[in-house]
Amino acid sequence: MITMTQLEFVMIKPDGVKRGLVGEIIKRFENKGLKLRALKMIKMSKEQAIELYKEHEGKPFFDDLVNYVTSGPVVVMVVEGPRAVEVVRRMVGATDGAEAEPGSIRGDFALSKARNIVHATDSPEKVEREMSIFFKKEELVEDYEFAHAIY
Ligand code: TYD
Ligand code: MG
Repeated sequence: MITMTQLEFVMIKPDGVKRGLVGEIIKRFENKGLKLRALKMIKMSKEQAIELYKEHEGKPFFDDLVNYVTSGPVVVMVVEGPRAVEVVRRMVGATDGAEAEPGSIRGDFALSKARNIVHATDSPEKVEREMSIFFKKEELVEDYEFAHAIY
């Protein structure tokens, strides 16, 4: 049986990296059964940050957001799985850590709206655009048989 999968773009923000939560966050996605397709640690440029968050340009928190995500290393990744976008967004939790459900990443590790550990693309239509800010096509590692064996 072939199950359709989606790609999802995820970024562990500088506060997540500084607090030593990289392994914990990746472990949750792996435990869930999502498959890592690409992974790297970078210091992103201002241009990349503005491109990633361009839907928020002009909002009061925009400059702080861009400064924050460029302030230190981040870990960017692409994961794959059935309905990966909604699954990951649920695992990440509400934007404000104080409101995020316990059991979600933000619910378990954040108490802030502005410093909330992780970014995940919010809709399937945007994944290609967001992941291409950080990854070339050839950086996505194919493992077709594995992906279709476990779902
Ligand atoms: P948004 O896309 O609304 O949240 P999410 O990350 O859950 O998709 O906002 C992007 C980031 O902007 C958010 O993760 C943190 C920051 N932000 C603030 O600092 N203050 C705010 O009031 C909002 C809405 C977001
Ligand atoms: Mg968003």
